[in-house]
Amino acid sequence: MALCLDTCFKIKENRYVHLSEKFHMQVLHISFECYPVAKAGGLADVVGALPKYLQQFDVDSWVVMPRFDNEWVRNHQQNVVHSGVAKMGDEKFDYRIVMEAGGVLGFPLYLVDIPGRLDRSGIYIDSYSDYAYWDEFERFASFQIAVLDWLKSFSKKPDIIHCHDHHTAFIPFLMTSSPVYHEFKSIPSIITIHNGHYQGWYDPGKKYLLPKIDPEREGFLYWNGRMNALSAGIRTAWSITTVSDSYLDELQHSCKGLEPLLSYEKQKSLGIINGIDTDVWDPSTDPLVVENFGQDNFATGKEKNKKWICEEFGFNPELPLFSFIGRLVDEKGADLLPDLIIRYLETGLKGSFLMLGTGEPWLHNRFMEMKGHYVNFFDASLSYNEELAHRMYAGSDFLIMPSRVEPCGLNQMYAMRYATLPIVRNIGGLKDTVKDFSVPDGNGIVFDHFNLDDAYNALSRATTIFHDKHLMENLQKRAITEDFSWHSSAKKYHNLYTSLIKEK
Ligand code: GLC
Repeated sequence: MALCLDTCFKIKENRYVHLSEKFHMQVLHISFECYPVAKAGGLADVVGALPKYLQQFDVDSWVVMPRFDNEWVRNHQQNVVHSGVAKMGDEKFDYRIVMEAGGVLGFPLYLVDIPGRLDRSGIYIDSYSDYAYWDEFERFASFQIAVLDWLKSFSKKPDIIHCHDHHTAFIPFLMTSSPVYHEFKSIPSIITIHNGHYQGWYDPGKKYLLPKIDPEREGFLYWNGRMNALSAGIRTAWSITTVSDSYLDELQHSCKGLEPLLSYEKQKSLGIINGIDTDVWDPSTDPLVVENFGQDNFATGKEKNKKWICEEFGFNPELPLFSFIGRLVDEKGADLLPDLIIRYLETGLKGSFLMLGTGEPWLHNRFMEMKGHYVNFFDASLSYNEELAHRMYAGSDFLIMPSRVEPCGLNQMYAMRYATLPIVRNIGGLKDTVKDFSVPDGNGIVFDHFNLDDAYNALSRATTIFHDKHLMENLQKRAITEDFSWHSSAKKYHNLYTSLIKEK
């Protein structure tokens, strides 16, 4: 869905101006990630899709993010729309706002170029050391300052400023608490929490790097004695959204110290489940899978995709194929996988297991050992591999998601769209999208507690389903016909925007 750049709008002053009359509000999404420009996780998928779907509601929305020095950025032409000089502490820095010229994302994409700060290949992690960048605060702060500086130059400001996660959470704070940005006070801001466990904690000594702050508002910067970007955003944004209803409830009981704040701010909070980009994730057109299929021929289509995986990894196609796709970290429950899989294979159940992802080094080592031990039953690709991911959704029977925490989770929805049954823990967005097959409209396998017994029990129930061809196909049919498109979620965001504009 490319954007008609030449015919739909012209670049005027420091941004584009839409020529179409149909758009009745402008929403600016501010994020550190956006698929396919730069992706570390699901945040990118959401920011890369939501603006497109908001157009169905006549919302003109655009994304602004850092201009990293990566392949995507190097391979796409950009036009400079604004150059400026902003201040961080006592130091001035130059920045440029460039706009992607081809309209390939389907919405206007602006990149903030700050030489020496943002123009690196990694988003958060230095690829040489594998550690977070030493100047993380300066990167996030200079990006946010540059965005606000750019917006200051607009004669007509966006109607809504929509920030995503802690990397952009100083924006609502600065909009309401800095004399430099008083003109933004009446613009509604939203902070969407994609993951409340990352908050941006900093030494209070770094405060001098932020623009001048109204003394009576300074307290909003701190939480438990440290600067906390997410808490500052939560306290000062007009509205807070989380990426599922259940996650909103859970955050009030578990959010790394912010629980009382989230309970306190409940009135202005709303859970909106993410959708998935059904253009990108469509088994009937997906160019990355071995065989395309749809709702009517998924059985034969999946068989061919499974055959490819089994040949590639030496598995037996007669056995159930369980996959895990995701970051190999505790949050995703990846630490449970080695013992779970070994227990499955050692207690006489028969199945194949394929892991895809990167993360904790100890898990990489453990999986490498298991590869050697359970040849033809276990394999792991310890990498980020978009093509293999698509093939795994298409060819697996089950996708395991034993998450400790799952704000929304997109993989269970991708899996269902490809008629792969999710095996999930009953938490966050997993709880809101997957129902156990034992209930009348069940579409997957659900377990309650984060422990080996419950997870093992879920795998063994899945194995029973697999051997009951009729039941398996019925559940797959239910999964593949679920509607996880963005339409209804985009509508909820549109309603929220409309009510905030009215409040204004
Ligand atoms: C984060 C969450 C994930 C969610 C995604 C998009 O990555 O961990 O659950 O789906 O953001 O909102």
